[in-house]
Amino acid sequence: MEFDATIQGDGAETEKSSTIRDDMQTRPPATAAAIARGNHPFHGDPYARYQALRLQGPIHWAPDLFGGAWLLTTFDGVQAALKDPRLSAQRTGGWVMRHALRGSPERKRLTAMQRLFARAMLFVDKPAHPRLRSAMQHAFRPARIEALRAQVAGLVHDLIEDIERRVPATASFDFIERFATPLPSRVISRFLGMRAVDDTRFLSWSSGLAAFLGAVEPTADETRVAHDSLAAMSDEIDRCIRAGDLEEDGLIASLVEAQAQGRIESREELLAQCVMLLFAGHETTRHLLGTAVYWLLQEPGRWRPLEDRARVRTSVRELLRWDSPVQFTGRRANCDFDLFGVALRRGDLVLPLLGSANRDPARYEAANRLDLDRPLGMPLSFGSGPHVCIGAALTLMEAECALGELVRRWPDLRMAEHSPPWIEAPLYRGLRRLELHRGTSSEGPAIPRLVGTAPSTKP
Ligand code: HEM
Repeated sequence: MEFDATIQGDGAETEKSSTIRDDMQTRPPATAAAIARGNHPFHGDPYARYQALRLQGPIHWAPDLFGGAWLLTTFDGVQAALKDPRLSAQRTGGWVMRHALRGSPERKRLTAMQRLFARAMLFVDKPAHPRLRSAMQHAFRPARIEALRAQVAGLVHDLIEDIERRVPATASFDFIERFATPLPSRVISRFLGMRAVDDTRFLSWSSGLAAFLGAVEPTADETRVAHDSLAAMSDEIDRCIRAGDLEEDGLIASLVEAQAQGRIESREELLAQCVMLLFAGHETTRHLLGTAVYWLLQEPGRWRPLEDRARVRTSVRELLRWDSPVQFTGRRANCDFDLFGVALRRGDLVLPLLGSANRDPARYEAANRLDLDRPLGMPLSFGSGPHVCIGAALTLMEAECALGELVRRWPDLRMAEHSPPWIEAPLYRGLRRLELHRGTSSEGPAIPRLVGTAPSTKP
């Protein structure tokens, strides 16, 4: 299906409205400019760079990022920005338009994708946002998440069994490929409630979109694959709805009901919410699982204590703080106003750095220490304010299920390579590959403890 190019509406940002204005180029480059040189400042281990920025102040102008953006670095500043109605969530135009030539087939595809994304609740403000959020909330209610727990446990069990069956105990396996990628994809597919869709197809849509979102500058090919994946998924959802091929308690069924009640305005709006889940819930959880296991295996004595399920719970929160899968989010000023003594102008792009906020020493004692016993509220990894992650409870349940079972089955799990490669996407932080040995301590090569070594960004 070609996305409906006629999709319009309150959420649809035009190309023009998202263009960075020329006058922004005349702003004096802030001290962040040096740090923002290169592809983007988030590659590799970004935390030393965040610290340098925070020491200089809560807001910085980064001229090289997305055509120019204000970076927010502190916990309080990020949290306040995410609740500030002067900062709009509508921001998809520049996101997909920047690199495609006018008139090119790639631009046509980007335009179609942008129009679809622009209707997703992540990218809309009042009054559409609270309307969509309340329509979605039903599927994310605590009772539903709890009811999914047994299914998630079953999926975790199946993946572990599959690895044990296919990979000899003495060989290594890529945890990202065999576990961290398929698990969130299967969970979201169950969550949506598409009965007839097999996991392979769902995973191929997820990966098609992930490669596009994960690229610093998506190629024409990545754009085509992402577009085609979304089109195939939209087609399939349409087909499931028409054929009534849906689980009654799945998200799509509850959105169909919401549409019947007028809380969802159209089929396109419904599709946009489903497609959003594919990128909001898949990449993020995949990276959480990968980095969580990576950090737990870095130090002797971190892994086995997780056999105590209560520790899994606190550890997951601290791991989310320590290495947030989503490093920043974006907003646009919807009026001129002052923020931390800086005059923002309407249309300015603001990036609240979640990864930096989570390491702010003004908020966390010994913020640069991973402390799995830290008594911790929720870090800013799930955002804050009206757009706070609606999938947080599902994510925590999934991560707790996965880590709890992995440590129970494989108490001797170890890394099989020193410096696994990190992805290079600016938005996400996660591992591209994580080779592990599951065997007993006598099997597989011993990996010396890494102290103070920044993970490499290249294989
Ligand atoms: C480690 C896992 C996850 C992380 C770190 C994460 C992070 C975030 C963040 C930071 C936001 C707020 C963005 C903003 O304010 O601009 C957000 C929103 C959202 N997340 Fe998640 N997320 C995760 C998992 C999930 C899952 C599993 C789902 C769904 C199945 C999900 C669905 C959403 C949705 C729909 C929104 C938009 C909420 C709104 O606009 O009201 N997320 N997430």
